[in-house]
Amino acid sequence: MKNLFDVTDKVIVVTGAAGVLAGGVAKYLQRQGAYVVYLDLFQEKVDETLAEAKKISDQCCGFACSVLDQASLDAVYGKIMADLGRVDVLINGAGGNMPGATIGPNQDVFDLKIEDYSKVLDLNLKGTVMPTMTFAKAFKAQRSGCVVNFSSMSATQALTRVLGYSNAKAAIDNFTKWMATEMALKYGDKVRVNALVPGFFIGNQNRALLVKEDGSYTDRGQQVINKTPFRRFGEQDEVYGTIHYLISDAAAFVTGVVVPVDGGFSAFSGV
Ligand SMILES: NC(=O)c1ccc[n+]([C@@H]2O[C@H](COP(=O)([O-])OP(=O)(O)OC[C@H]3O[C@@H](n4cnc5c(N)ncnc54)[C@H](O)[C@@H]3O)[C@@H](O)[C@H]2O)c1
Repeated sequence: MKNLFDVTDKVIVVTGAAGVLAGGVAKYLQRQGAYVVYLDLFQEKVDETLAEAKKISDQCCGFACSVLDQASLDAVYGKIMADLGRVDVLINGAGGNMPGATIGPNQDVFDLKIEDYSKVLDLNLKGTVMPTMTFAKAFKAQRSGCVVNFSSMSATQALTRVLGYSNAKAAIDNFTKWMATEMALKYGDKVRVNALVPGFFIGNQNRALLVKEDGSYTDRGQQVINKTPFRRFGEQDEVYGTIHYLISDAAAFVTGVVVPVDGGFSAFSGV
């Protein structure tokens, strides 16, 4: 019987692949037999990530590439098509926040730094749209392919202080639905676009916000736990299965969805 979850030899491009969640899922999929193209901003990070990936198998390559630089995206796309001839999956993992786009704990609402706000909108929103517009071109000729975007809990529920990142992630939810619709109507039912919404996972960007040096929770960390029925943060590997499902034939009739992996955070009112 056909294995609905088989990803053997699928060519999977991952942006932000030196990061915690995206890097973890990239290596997981390589272990499942996929060919993974690791993309991240700096050559040094790509080299480090690729050295780890080579220990898994030879089914990988990597490039330094900014998701906001069309010339570098085009160069990588050209190289992949010349060397591998196809792109089966794009995972848009590059993203993140920066302090100026967030209202500081003792700041006024009106202290928002618009320049930083714009940078965060660009990285998260354009940094998802631009790679999709580049790598999903392959899907047109193939009449098949999948995109997985990364949204956030803050896209649909206000998260205090975090504005730019939340606005961008809300737009990613919208982009996911729009792109899913356009691609299916134009190129058929084997082209699918979905998004994952991680709940709260401890990463480099949010560790200091959520956990103190002694391992206990900050006030904000405790607020998150209080609204999470599982009463804990997520473990990195708990996103892998959902992404695996979304890119596999097991999800053949699934497109335009935004799937929370959050220990119940989005279901719970907190009361
Ligand atoms: N970790 C969480 O709790 C969490 C929660 C919700 C959403 N997310 C989202 O999930 C996605 C993956 O998160 P993560 O934990 O792996 O993040 P991460 O910060 O560990 O990794 C992000 C990666 O993106 C890269 N990057 C930054 N700018 C880039 C650019 N211009 N071009 C290419 N790469 C660039 C960084 O170098 C980094 O390696 C992100 O979009 C993040 O916003 C994460």
